[in-house]
Amino acid sequence: MIDLRSDTITQPSDEMRDAISHAIVGDDVYHDDPTVNALESMVADLLGKEAAMYVPTGTMSNQIAVRMHTQPGDSIVLEASAHIGSHEMGGVAHHSGVTLKRIAGTRGVFTAADVRATVPVPHPSLPAYLYEPHTLLCVENTHNEAGGTVWSLEETHAVTAAARDLAMATHLDGARLWNTSAATETSIDQYAAPFDTVSVCFSKGLGAPVGSALVGDTDFIEEARRFKQMFGGGMRQSGLLAAGAIYALENNRERLVDDHANALAFARFVSEIEGVTVDLDVVHTNIVYFNVNDPGQVVDSCLERGLAMLTLGTTSIRAVFHLGITPQDSRNAAAIVADAIGDR
Ligand SMILES: Cc1ncc(COP(=O)(O)O)c(C=O)c1O
Repeated sequence: MIDLRSDTITQPSDEMRDAISHAIVGDDVYHDDPTVNALESMVADLLGKEAAMYVPTGTMSNQIAVRMHTQPGDSIVLEASAHIGSHEMGGVAHHSGVTLKRIAGTRGVFTAADVRATVPVPHPSLPAYLYEPHTLLCVENTHNEAGGTVWSLEETHAVTAAARDLAMATHLDGARLWNTSAATETSIDQYAAPFDTVSVCFSKGLGAPVGSALVGDTDFIEEARRFKQMFGGGMRQSGLLAAGAIYALENNRERLVDDHANALAFARFVSEIEGVTVDLDVVHTNIVYFNVNDPGQVVDSCLERGLAMLTLGTTSIRAVFHLGITPQDSRNAAAIVADAIGDR
């Protein structure tokens, strides 16, 4: 089976399992786990922030960030198909009591002008108490549903500067920020710098089995630990999991560009199949969306032939490339798509 459903389906290698089995552990709820503490320092350093907090999932990391940055009744500004607004089960409404102001971006990216047009500016004729406070701007880089697309540093700086002018905090959902950094050959701290807080995941392209980190100032992260506990994220000997993340950071970052090359090769192959459209300009990293008439049927036919992918909406299919996929798998996957479509 060639499994392109997600970059979260990776299996730990023997070397990663070895690192996990030898991890020195303690009770992380008491900050006694040396491996978790080492991971947190490593991630804070890499991202150029003061502190980091290891959490079980990217969803929890984002949810804690929103809870920390907002008060019930506030509004948060984010892209229309951002993970925080579309795939976290309404968590921000439930946990933080906030509403969403969604901006329809172009390939997942919006502009400073979009932010200014979305955030109401009080005027004597319309006093501030008639608007919910817009207190947080969220950006997703790479942007998953837009196709693993990259926000450039310039685009990022423009919207965060606008947010600061509007007295808003800024949070980056960087679940795949490692891919952004690899694709642009730019150190990851540069992408983190304009944001107050950043969430990164180890369980996506990096190939660790579990975990994410929320990164920011020391005071912010210390306070955020209260919500980690409240949301049920206090783990005990989680150094076993953190060891997989450390191994992934040390060994699997440089190879992310291989996933990007495999994704682009696959996208080029399928773009030549009759009945398939794919915008090659948005294949920036490890995710490919391509359009067909009946995605459900194509996905089913591909599955029968040994290729797993996901449908998205009424016309799209998603294929995600990761460390379990070779260049030959990419070619074989495209041949299976051609076969499945030709056979309909
Ligand atoms: C952009 C983005 N943010 C956050 C998450 C949530 O991560 P997790 O599955 O670890 O909760 C995902 C998951 O795929 C994602 O794609």
